Amino acid sequence: MAQGNRADYRVVPLPDRIDGIKDGDFKLTSDCVIDYPLGNRDMERNAAMLSDYIEELTDIHLSTRPVNSANNNKGCITLSLDSRVKSDEGYRITVTSRAVEIAGKTPAGVFYGIQTLRKSIPVGKTDQVLLPAAQVASTPRFGYRGMHLDCVRHFFGVETVKRYLDIMTLHGMNRLHWHLTDDQGWRIEIKKYPRLAEVGGWRNGTTLGHNSPVNDGIRYGGYYTQEEIKEIVRYAADRYITIIPEIDMPGHMVAALTAYPELGCTGGPYEVWSLWGVTDDILCAGNDQTLQFVNDVLDEVMQLFPGTYIHIGGDESPRVRWQECPRCQQRIMDLGLKTSGQQSAEALLQGWFTTQVQQYLNTHGRRVIGWDELLGCDVDATATIMSWRGSEPGAQGAMQGHDVIMTPVDPLYFDYYQTSKTWNEPTAFGGCNTLKKVYDFDPVAPDLPADKRHHILGAQANVWTEYITCEPQIQYQILPRMAALAEVQWLEPVDKNYQDFKARLPRLVEIYKHYGWTYRAKSLIQDDEDKTD
Ligand code: ACM
Ligand code: ZN
Repeated sequence: MAQGNRADYRVVPLPDRIDGIKDGDFKLTSDCVIDYPLGNRDMERNAAMLSDYIEELTDIHLSTRPVNSANNNKGCITLSLDSRVKSDEGYRITVTSRAVEIAGKTPAGVFYGIQTLRKSIPVGKTDQVLLPAAQVASTPRFGYRGMHLDCVRHFFGVETVKRYLDIMTLHGMNRLHWHLTDDQGWRIEIKKYPRLAEVGGWRNGTTLGHNSPVNDGIRYGGYYTQEEIKEIVRYAADRYITIIPEIDMPGHMVAALTAYPELGCTGGPYEVWSLWGVTDDILCAGNDQTLQFVNDVLDEVMQLFPGTYIHIGGDESPRVRWQECPRCQQRIMDLGLKTSGQQSAEALLQGWFTTQVQQYLNTHGRRVIGWDELLGCDVDATATIMSWRGSEPGAQGAMQGHDVIMTPVDPLYFDYYQTSKTWNEPTAFGGCNTLKKVYDFDPVAPDLPADKRHHILGAQANVWTEYITCEPQIQYQILPRMAALAEVQWLEPVDKNYQDFKARLPRLVEIYKHYGWTYRAKSLIQDDEDKTD
């Protein structure tokens, strides 16, 4: 048997433990059957997916079979639930010459074991793969292992979003932060406000390059129907990925204002934006109708997205319109908000607005995530903070008792360049986040006190799409940096080793190639300097 047909459990992310067992290899052939517990729909789907993965990679077809209890069928792969596995998403794979067992405390844990087995198998048509006898076990370091995708600045259809979820699945990730609304487009159908998608979903052209004076003049847009959103949410859930929708407010709202100008301070008219950046036009916080609108939109959002968290943005919200707006100023008076120290009355008004929305979501059993700007406006500690302007705001948030997700621009903005030598790279936002910088990132600052560390829920890379116009370009920006992020999310810092990771990466890339995903090949060949100009 050629060496090429032996599985290697040293995949990405690297399992915590790989302990050899003194036994012969298990022969994976089409005679093997995948057993799963009878009557468990999640485990049935897990089994079907494992069968599909093996067939996609090797052409070996395995059938699946429900079983009543653990029976010792010779030559079988058994998926099982085992309460002795410590964490909910942890797994244990046991391979002997006669059997393979993938066990988890939950079906999600079993699924991560399936991903590891899948990645350990060499890509290529064959009729037999040898699995060395071993026990393999792992537990993710963080419960929140995210990727973000901006589907506003450029719009990507259902199939592209599903493939993005497929890529996340291969990397053991479990949260998609889906950016659905912004100045340049409104991408989610809201039945009560049909103009949001019909009018707000389209812009009259797009600036060329980095906000040049030249506009391409091409009408651009699109949106997801509620049926499409349900389909994507279901597709994600089948892969144990929760989608967190972002409805960004009170800033980044020009698409909505174009559709409903009465929600802005000046009353408009507004035009869905064709530039990038931050605009002064935001929702009017002095108008009761605005809060009604937000609650109505969130009602439909909550129906579509069953996860606990809703992201309500809060970033880059200039307050110049509020300073001039009689209704906003009246609200400030009525609430008795007063400028104190660094905090303007308008910042406190954003805090009040956010708190209204937060309370509305809380009464529906949901929790809020917002960008780190919320720390400056007196929002209470039940809001989870997404730290993007570096890791320091997140550390401060954790000190104040907020849960925190780390997505610092440096190094987790994957719309940034991956090298300082940018001349042959597709246009990107700027910056330089190399593969190594991503790998070396630790979401938990070394000086964060022990009793605050639990507030750091995890890490996520953000993919803003001002300069990303098509799916291969998305993939180029995220691969292979997602592989480095996966080890940040799964491994304890002491278990990370960049050179070792680089040695394991080519086998993961074989899988990227197999699925036809675009990736930055140069990142495999040599390390990029991480200096920024
Ligand atoms: C952000 O990048 N404006 C959160
Ligand atoms: Zn106003």
